[in-house]
This record gives sequence, structure tokens and C-alpha cells, in this order.
Amino acid sequence: MALFGKKRTAAARESVDRTRLPQHVAVILDGNGRWARRRGLPRTAGHVAGAENFRTIATLCKNMGIKNFTVFAFSTENWKRPTEEVAAIMKLLVQYLQESIEKMEKDHIRLHFWGDLTPLSDELKALCATTDRISEGYDGMNVNVCLNYGGRDEIMYAARAFAQECLDAGRVPDKMEPAMLERHLYSAGVPDPDLIIRPSGEERISNFLLWQSAYAEYYFTDVMWPDFDEEELLRAFVAYQQRARRFGGIDETEKDG
Ligand code: IPE
Ligand code: IPE
Ligand code: MG
Repeated sequence: MALFGKKRTAAARESVDRTRLPQHVAVILDGNGRWARRRGLPRTAGHVAGAENFRTIATLCKNMGIKNFTVFAFSTENWKRPTEEVAAIMKLLVQYLQESIEKMEKDHIRLHFWGDLTPLSDELKALCATTDRISEGYDGMNVNVCLNYGGRDEIMYAARAFAQECLDAGRVPDKMEPAMLERHLYSAGVPDPDLIIRPSGEERISNFLLWQSAYAEYYFTDVMWPDFDEEELLRAFVAYQQRARRFGGIDETEKDG
């Protein structure tokens, strides 16, 4: 017999092993526009629903004990969209941060921003700075919001910073090691994502966490982001827990003899 609603979610909760959750979960918040269009609504309505859902899923992750949660909210390529859509997304971000600043005290969530914030409005930049400052003393879940973020840009900025370090110290760059570059990434000090979720049926990376995703497990689903609920999240965790992560090695059971 098919299980319904709450019962099905309860069953899904049972199937996740709480002791083997990913340390770092990243999500490409995709499908807002199509979610709205399918309902005969403007794309902006999809972004509103998507922002609301971000809160819901972030809270679920926090309550489950996920340590790091990174979301792709606006890419370096998203400026190509109609001016009105970009303006609406920026307005939503301002609203979102104003509300978050009030709630942070209660949730103890550490909110950080990954990306080049320079082209953002002064208001948005100031809100990001305030949020960062308040977050400093908190020890709750780390939430990283990727804003005007591009994986290629991130690596390029890190390479530039490393080259400058070499120049300043009169060193040659041939001793460069991965850790030296990582120090200059937005993600410095944060473990690589274990699981990257992309809703909306697209199966591509779209310039997200190019360096950090070297050994991430991917989870794709056709569900649009505003409809991505607890059950979907649990399904992604179950799929993750069924993967054999070898990191280039082999499992005990796969050895000869
Ligand atoms: C993701 O949803 C939000 C942003 C990229 C800002 P989309 O707006 O890309 O939604 P679709 O992919 O067009 O449905
Ligand atoms: C990726 O989604 C970026 C964000 C979700 C912020 P896009 O909708 O921009 O990706 P493409 O264009 O379909 O690859
Ligand atoms: Mg999209």
C-alpha cells in the first residue's frame, strides 16, 4: 500500500543513518523560474518561493546536525538575465538578509558569503558585512551563500593572490602546493562538500565549486527547488549513504584474494 504524506516522511526519516551524514552539503538552487512559469506566475514568484524554501531546508539540515551547508544563489553568469529579474533577485536578497539578521541571535547560524561582492549594491554589501560580523562568534551550522559566485573566478582570484604572495616574498611559484591555493579560496578552512544536490532536472555543474567538488557525490532530481522538501532531502541523504566513496583507492571487499 502506498504511504501518504506524513507517514512517508516518517518512513524516509527512518531510512537515513544519522551517524553517517555528510559533513558538508551543497545545493544548486535551481528551477525557481520553471516552477513559477508552470503555475502561470512570473519568474519572480519562483524566486520568492525558492528563498522561502531555502529557510526550510537550511533549518532541517541544522536540526539534523549538518555542519556546513552551501547554496548557489546567484552566479557570475546570472547577470545575463533580464534587468528586472536581476533587480528582483537582489531585492529579495536584501529582504532575506534583513530578516536573517534579526533571527541569527536565536538560530546561531553562521552566515557567510562566497563570491565577488563588489558589483552588488552598497545596501546589499553592508548587509553582507553586518551578517558576517554577527556570525563571527557563533558556533552553529555554517551556511555559505554563493553570491555573484563563479568557480573559475574563485580559482583565478586565488591564483592571483598566490602569485602576489610570491612576488611580495621574493619566492618562485614552483613550490606551490594545493593547500597554498586553498588558503585563498572563499572556502578556506571549510571541508570540501561531500554531497552536491541539483534539483530541476539539469545535470551539470554550472561553474559551482569547481575546485572543491573533486570528490563530491552528486545527487540530481527533477523536482524544482521550491518543491524540494524534507522527503527529497532525506532521499538525497539515503542515495549518498549508498555510494562507495573510494577517493581513488579500492574498498576492502574489492581486494584480490
Ligand atoms: C535558480 O532558478 C535561481 C537563480 C539562478 C538565481 P532559475 O531562475 O535558474 O530557474 P529556472 O532554471 O529558470 O527554472
Ligand atoms: C545555476 O543555475 C546558478 C544558480 C542556481 C545560482 P542556472 O539556472 O544559472 O544554470 P544554467 O544556466 O541552467 O546552467
Ligand atoms: Mg536555472
